[in-house]
Amino acid sequence: MQSESLAWPIDSICLNRDVNTYSDLARIVYRRTCRTDFSEPGFCLITLGSKIDSNELRKTMVSLKQELAAIHERTRGMTLQYLSLGRFDQQNSTKPHRDNGPVECFLMLGYEPTEVQSALAISDYSRCASDRGLTPTEFLAEYNPMFQSGSEILRPYTTQVPCFSNFDYQIVCINNSCAPCSEAQPAWQGVLHTATILTPNARQCRVINSTLITSVAPGTPNVISEEQENQFVETTLVRRRDYESRQQADDF
Ligand SMILES: [Fe+2]
Repeated sequence: MQSESLAWPIDSICLNRDVNTYSDLARIVYRRTCRTDFSEPGFCLITLGSKIDSNELRKTMVSLKQELAAIHERTRGMTLQYLSLGRFDQQNSTKPHRDNGPVECFLMLGYEPTEVQSALAISDYSRCASDRGLTPTEFLAEYNPMFQSGSEILRPYTTQVPCFSNFDYQIVCINNSCAPCSEAQPAWQGVLHTATILTPNARQCRVINSTLITSVAPGTPNVISEEQENQFVETTLVRRRDYESRQQADDF
């Protein structure tokens, strides 16, 4: 049983747009998020400050995805494709979970400043599974983190994201994969995420611009059209989550 904390230090998670060039930023985000072993966290956060606006946040997200796709093409001969894009007002607390998605995928979430305070924690369930000789899928079947026992086992593998702030525009990338760890066939190693809403307030918005991105062979037809991508950047609409909903598939 792992007793020592394996939480990641702040320097390995938190990035600042002002101190990194754009291509440097993408390279670091790719390395930290799209890991194929446990030498990187599987997630990271970029603080963009409070002086931009929502459109600029979403433009930055789309540009970053393009840059990450170019890196993915160079390093693995595959590319990246959006599976979903959306803007949500979300104030549900969650247990540690993986969003619905293919075996290899990651979330790129754009958080907007809000009065609603919340916390984000990441649990390295792929590493925890590997330490137990299990695949991530077997681990989730055996130790369901929705229940207390599963959460306890994941505790040493859990990092509270220290730079998560309700005052700034921020981008969080989270590896959402469930691929087995293999040296022979390297694949993305996923983590679970847990959101805790500290000060829920139905009169306030907590906007998350949410994208799910997967690895595909070059030339694979797009799931999301260019028009939908432009709409995601330009829209002023925010979908409000049903607060009574128990769905865990796509809340953050
Ligand atoms: Fe989620």
